This record gives sequence, structure tokens and C-alpha cells, in this order.
Amino acid sequence: MAEHFRVGGGARLAGEVQVVGAKNSVLKLMAAALLAEGTTTLTNCPEILDVPLMADVLRSLGCTVCVEGSTVTITAPSQPCERADYRSVSRLRASVCVLGPLVARCRRAVVPLPGGDAIGSRPLDMHANGLRKLGARTEINHGRVVADAEDLRGAQIWLDFPSVGATENILMAAVLAEGTTVIDNAAREPEIVDLCTMLQQMGAKIEGSGSSTLTVHGVSSLQPTEHRVIGDRIVGATWAFAAAMTQGEVTVRGVNPHHIDLVLDKLRAAGADTRTDTDSFTVAMDGRPAAVDFVTLPYPGFATDLQPMAIALSAVADGTSMITENVFEARFRFVDEMVRLGADARTDGHHAVVRGVSRLSSAPVWASDIRAGAGLVLAGLCAEGTSEVWDVEHIDRGYPRFVENLRAMGAEVSRVTTDPVR
Ligand code: UD1
Repeated sequence: MAEHFRVGGGARLAGEVQVVGAKNSVLKLMAAALLAEGTTTLTNCPEILDVPLMADVLRSLGCTVCVEGSTVTITAPSQPCERADYRSVSRLRASVCVLGPLVARCRRAVVPLPGGDAIGSRPLDMHANGLRKLGARTEINHGRVVADAEDLRGAQIWLDFPSVGATENILMAAVLAEGTTVIDNAAREPEIVDLCTMLQQMGAKIEGSGSSTLTVHGVSSLQPTEHRVIGDRIVGATWAFAAAMTQGEVTVRGVNPHHIDLVLDKLRAAGADTRTDTDSFTVAMDGRPAAVDFVTLPYPGFATDLQPMAIALSAVADGTSMITENVFEARFRFVDEMVRLGADARTDGHHAVVRGVSRLSSAPVWASDIRAGAGLVLAGLCAEGTSEVWDVEHIDRGYPRFVENLRAMGAEVSRVTTDPVR
């Protein structure tokens, strides 16, 4: 049996929605718990499948993990197992972030390659090069990454690209290396800042958090801590797009609006009114959005994870938009599904040109990844008739209580369990 969402078009979203902790933060924070013997507690964790999957990865490394609602407690042993289990890792790409902590704690790590992804190839060369600079012999062969180090020593590391995952792995190895490490062209995403904050609470000495130069003075050991995961800016921004596209008014709570400054600026350029508070924001749209261009870039640029939402908005906007994808080359695959929904869109290399139509038309469509799935649901909300969005397990991996939240805002969306008809 398969599940799909039935999405009725035409409703105007209104009301409030609470956003919980960020998927892209919690998984790395769980890995960071490996760095200190003892019990680390994470609160405000999203109740999504990836959290228990990451818990399984950590259990295979010798941790005791308890997931209870939005609280996750991880007890790391004095000597974690250095070898991650293939079956756990293959189910969760982000599990590769145990590499840095394992090298730091065990001086050896064997982590299976998690495999391909629908959004494009995701090599680990920058992760491996960074660990090599710290003194670990690192090889990628036989479908796994193997890193060995007698000693980890601080080093100057320049990243070719501000990779989120490479920055996190190198950072988590460097905190327990001897001496000073400087990571240049580091990623600056709020989730990296969240990781730095937790590591600092554990006793790590890090300077430059949130900038493109991270300086880490290694310490000999870290202590477990208690940490609240930052709100999910990608989920919050998804609701902001939903409000604008349906010409509604939605207040999003639990997200720092500064983490989506550029998104709110784009929505204002499209005609929305926005209001912000410390931990919340409101987006209101009266009338059809105007077309705007989007260019995906590492933070503080426009997030590649929101590119499907940008295309969905452009599909119903007044005018023509150009969307440029600079981070994951295969993300435009999702555009074919948008065309099924009546979008006037075509792609050429890194660019998509979308001519907005006044109304999309309902269709069955398939989600290829988390964000593409959310983008298709948003488009379905603006389509004539009832659309079916299939392969919704992708959406469930990134959006806790997705259907419930949409319904509370007035959307006609329901989850249906049935045999898929393809
Ligand atoms: C993380 C996020 C993902 C987001 C992405 C970019 C998690 C779990 N996932 O993914 O949702 O879309 O950041 O914001 O946090 N690259 C290399 N070599 C490497 C590493 C990366 O070439 O060693 C390339 C990738 O192919 C990609 C680009 O760098 O083109 C960015 O990837 P990266 O920032 O590492 O993304 P992830 O950490 O995998």
C-alpha cells in the first residue's frame, strides 16, 4: 500500500503555524553528541523519520539513544565503535556526519557511502581532504570512507566551496585536534552556527561562528550538554511561500526571521506584506504575486532547498521569472512534475524560465525529494481541481505534521492510503 496526499486547489491559507527544530541541524547535533562521553540532551527536535534513523546509526556506534517526543537523549560511551553499520547509514544520507566525530574520538572511522540522491551527486572529496589536512589518512574506496589518524593536528584548510557537510565534519574533528585549525570558505548556514553553539557549550574553543572563517583551538576532551535545536528556517519559509501563493495571511512561530531575510525580501518584491518579531513572522498577500527572479547560493544566499517553492510561486505569478540553480544540478528534475500541473516552465542547464499562469490545473504528480514534494503540494493548492501528490514519504522526512499544519491553515489536504496507479 502507498500513501498520497489529495490536495484541493483554491483555498486561501490563513492562521498561525508553529515550526519546530531544524532537520538539518538536529542530525548533526546528534552526531556531535558522540564527541563527549556521557548523556547529551537535545530538545525541540522535529518528530520526523530521520531522527529515529540517526538514532539507529548512533546505536550501531555504541550509544544509548532515547527518542521521546521532541526530546532526544544520547549517551555516548567512553570508546565508541569506529565502524558505522551499512544498513543504518544507507537509509540516511546525513549520517555521513558521524565521520568527523568518530575520527576525533576513535582516531579511526569506517563509514559506508550513503549512496546517490535525487537532487544530484553528493561527493565527499572536501570532507576527505579536510580530514587529510588534519593528519588522517583518508580513503574513499569499496563503497566506504576510511579515516585513520595517530594524531589529529590543527591545520589551515581552504574549502573549494562552502559545503555544509564538509564544514561540519571538519569542525567536529578539529575540536579535539591538537593545536589550531582554520577553516576558510566555511559554510555560514544557521545550522552551522547552531552546531558551533552546542560545541562551545560542550567546551570547544571556536571563533568566527557564522562567518566564512572558523578558527578552532583544539581541546583534549568535551563534556555532554543540553541544547535546544534552532527552528527550521526551510519549513518556516515553505509556509511563507504557501501564504503568498494562496494570497493568504499566515503567522509562522518558532523561526528566527533573520534566517530567512532574503526570502522575506523576495516575497515583498512579489507584493507581499511582511511583519517580523524575535521568533516569528507574518506574510500576507493581497492579489496575484508579481514575478521575481531567484538565484540559489550558499547562505546567506537563497537556499537551494527552497528552489522548488520559488518555482511553484513563479508558476502562478504575474510575469516571467528566471530561477538559477547553483548548488545541486539535478534539482530541476522536479520541473517536469510542475509542467504536469500546468506550469509553463522549461529548463536550460542551470536556469529555469517560468512564465506564470493565472491558474494551474490538477494532476497526479510524484515527489522526488523532500523539498520537491513540498513545492508540488504548494502548487496543488493553486490548481483547479484536486491533485494527487505521490511518494509522500519524502515530505514526511522533512515536514513534521505537514498535512495537519496545512489543514489548520484552511487547506483542503488529506492523506490517503491506497494502491498507487501509475
Ligand atoms: C546540506 C543539507 C541540504 C542542503 C545543502 C545545501 C543536510 C542534511 N542537508 O547538504 O538540505 O540542500 O546542505 O545547503 O544538512 N560538494 C562536493 N564535495 C564535497 C561536498 C559537497 O562537491 O565533498 C558539493 C555538492 O555536490 C553540492 C555542494 O557541494 O553541489 C553543496 O553541498 P553541501 O553544502 O555539502 O550539502 P550537504 O551538506 O550534502
